[in-house]
Amino acid sequence: MVTIVEHPLIKRDVSILRNKDTATPEFRAAMKRIAAMLAAEAARYILLREISVLTPLEATKGYECSHDIVLLPVLRAGAGLVEQFTDVIPDAKIGYIGLRRNEATLDNEEYYFNVPRLKPESLVMILDPMLATGGSICSAIDRVRKAGVSQVLVVSVIAAPEGIKRVEASFPDVPIIAAALDRCLNDVGYILPGLGDAGDRYHGTIES
Ligand code: PRP
Ligand code: URA
Repeated sequence: MVTIVEHPLIKRDVSILRNKDTATPEFRAAMKRIAAMLAAEAARYILLREISVLTPLEATKGYECSHDIVLLPVLRAGAGLVEQFTDVIPDAKIGYIGLRRNEATLDNEEYYFNVPRLKPESLVMILDPMLATGGSICSAIDRVRKAGVSQVLVVSVIAAPEGIKRVEASFPDVPIIAAALDRCLNDVGYILPGLGDAGDRYHGTIES
């Protein structure tokens, strides 16, 4: 299932990200604001259990998270989304997967994998702002699934139809949450209209 989060502030901030003249500080700030909105949407998948809460006046029904939540940002660009997720899910654990896309073949290569112990009942949120061919996200989901986790969801900022199709074909039960659905990929695998290279723009590593 794909959810494109419709919100005026997201539309404004995606426009800031898209603008080629947006400087790094404003790019980072817009990415973080979007992440906060996406985190609220992703948190709908958290399962709760009932608890009893004592107010100053009486006992009442309350709730707490009933499972482990693990954030899995895909390095590098996914690092820009983490903080806003931990703001709303402070006890989430964080793992990292580093995937580098080969710009000639569009295949990805894993260069880092460090995640906390995953349990079958954990909820893993894979964070990557760009879902282009879908290769990186599929590799990340595959890693998590091989660890025995069934509840996995993907959070992206900009998704291409090609990437969505690929994830849905391989992992039809993995929900995808995104801020924008773009038109297509160009012939070198970049999303159109897109925002360019998310990792470089977020980390300020574009060579001029
Ligand atoms: C970018 C982006 C995604 C991936 C998407 O990462 O952040 O991880 O490409 O492309 P795909 O859907 O075709 O796999 P990149 O490999 O450029 O690394 P970076 O984040 O370090 O710049
Ligand atoms: N990765 C990016 O950062 N941007 C794209 O458009 C595609 C993949």
